Amino acid sequence: MALPFPILTAEEAAELIQNGQNLGVSGFTGSGHPKEVPQALARRIEAATGRGETFRVGLWTGASTAPEMDGELFKVNGVSMRLPYQSDPDCRNRINAGEAFYTDVHLSHSAQNAAWGHYGRLDVALIEVVAIKEDGRLVPSTSVGNNPTWLDIADRVILEVNTGLNPRLEGMHDIYRIALPPHRQPIPIARADDRVGEPYLRVDPKKVVAVVETNCPDRDTQFTAPDENSRLIAGHILDFLQHEVKKGRIPANLLPLQSGVGNVANAVMAGLNDGPYENLTAYTEVLQDGMLDMIRSGKLAMASATAISLSKEALVDFNANIGEYAKRIILRPQEVSNHPEVIRRLGVISMNGMLEADIYGNVNSTHVLGSKMMNGIGGSGDFARNAYLSIFMTPSLAKKGALSCIVPMVSHVDHTEHDVQVLVTEHGLADLRGLAPRQRARLVIEKCADPKFRPALEDYLARAEKTANGLQTPHLLGEAYDWHLRALRGESM
Ligand code: COA
Repeated sequence: MALPFPILTAEEAAELIQNGQNLGVSGFTGSGHPKEVPQALARRIEAATGRGETFRVGLWTGASTAPEMDGELFKVNGVSMRLPYQSDPDCRNRINAGEAFYTDVHLSHSAQNAAWGHYGRLDVALIEVVAIKEDGRLVPSTSVGNNPTWLDIADRVILEVNTGLNPRLEGMHDIYRIALPPHRQPIPIARADDRVGEPYLRVDPKKVVAVVETNCPDRDTQFTAPDENSRLIAGHILDFLQHEVKKGRIPANLLPLQSGVGNVANAVMAGLNDGPYENLTAYTEVLQDGMLDMIRSGKLAMASATAISLSKEALVDFNANIGEYAKRIILRPQEVSNHPEVIRRLGVISMNGMLEADIYGNVNSTHVLGSKMMNGIGGSGDFARNAYLSIFMTPSLAKKGALSCIVPMVSHVDHTEHDVQVLVTEHGLADLRGLAPRQRARLVIEKCADPKFRPALEDYLARAEKTANGLQTPHLLGEAYDWHLRALRGESM
């Protein structure tokens, strides 16, 4: 049965989007985003603003996308509200200049918030798929993200069918739907490799107003070879995991791994790949090169994620061997890949980057010097709060050594001391489990701070212990942010 969907050009499809509308768009970490309609929409917005008209949309995604989407739309200042996560420089600049609003949300919350209507009405879903089956089911692309919810709640749907993607992605996905309360049921995932849904997305055919055919690759993610700091951080984590295995607190094949984005995360994966492990599993958000290497070497038995984000070289290997990879990769909606219930049940080992931590273990992942957005919390809170082991890592210094990433008090809190069990820098690893705040502070300064800033942190703690109004978590409130104020003046912290 041929489906009666209108086949339109990207320009024609972009004409269906109006000023003031909200778009629910596919895309997660540079994969699975629509490639052509957003660019056509950016041209339409530019033309409208050139005529003196206002044309701006709300842009909801799975997570970060790529220059051809966030980049193009933010260059023309066409987005009034962005959520739930971004990492694009043009987008970030608009947010920090106050020209666009940004709602930074736990990724597992974004679908249910939208379904409850907290973000307003969803006018259009714009979703990339690999193919449309004869019966109207959709073969999802390289990310699933929030697509099931966008397709459900949007008034109208535009599909980009990307023939440039590997058709053998079909079958790799597991689309399980979570009902809203009071109808919600337990998610029956007891192992990272459990499949509990179906491999297709579904859409009400009456809502499909356009199908646009494209042939474009995903953005490829560049990974640089791990630098010395990344290797040292990875080394500390690997030693710690070995120690935990020896103590009998985790099994020899560890527990399902979650690894954040970036080079440090990849260096940890490279270390695990060289380590004495077999039959590892991953319950994570994004599958990057490091995990693909581990699947190829046989160390990683399976990986569950919501997106695949690879470098050019890794993508060639992925496409050449997709039959084998498909047996070991499951792509789920982000509200399942990041679901607190499943993360807690599986006992995930979570490893994420941060900007700064304070001596008591609070972590800032998002705001530079308190006010300026970097990327967003992403899935780090979903995992850290519910993981069996929650690890945060960073080099001890930033901005050529002017900034200490260990400070008396973080300038913004994403993860409180209650959700942070282990802090790691190139200097060492602080295992904070079971420690009271003053014990934590001594360990964090000793193990994680750069020697250049250690004396000042020790001095801060000692004076706080003498003069603060209580000794549970001693602070010098008039002084705690002097470190950031010096940085704002362009001085060393
Ligand atoms: N104060 C101010 N700026 C800092 C800083 C600090 N303490 N620490 C780092 N920075 C700056 C760096 O200088 C760099 O700036 P530049 O881009 O202008 O050079 C930038 O922040 C990124 O730092 P980098 O060391 O390259 O870190 P990264 O690539 O490992 O990313 C985060 C670190 C925190 C930005 C990143 O992990 C993130 O976005 N985390 C939140 C989301 C998340 O955890 N997702 C995964 C969950 S599944």
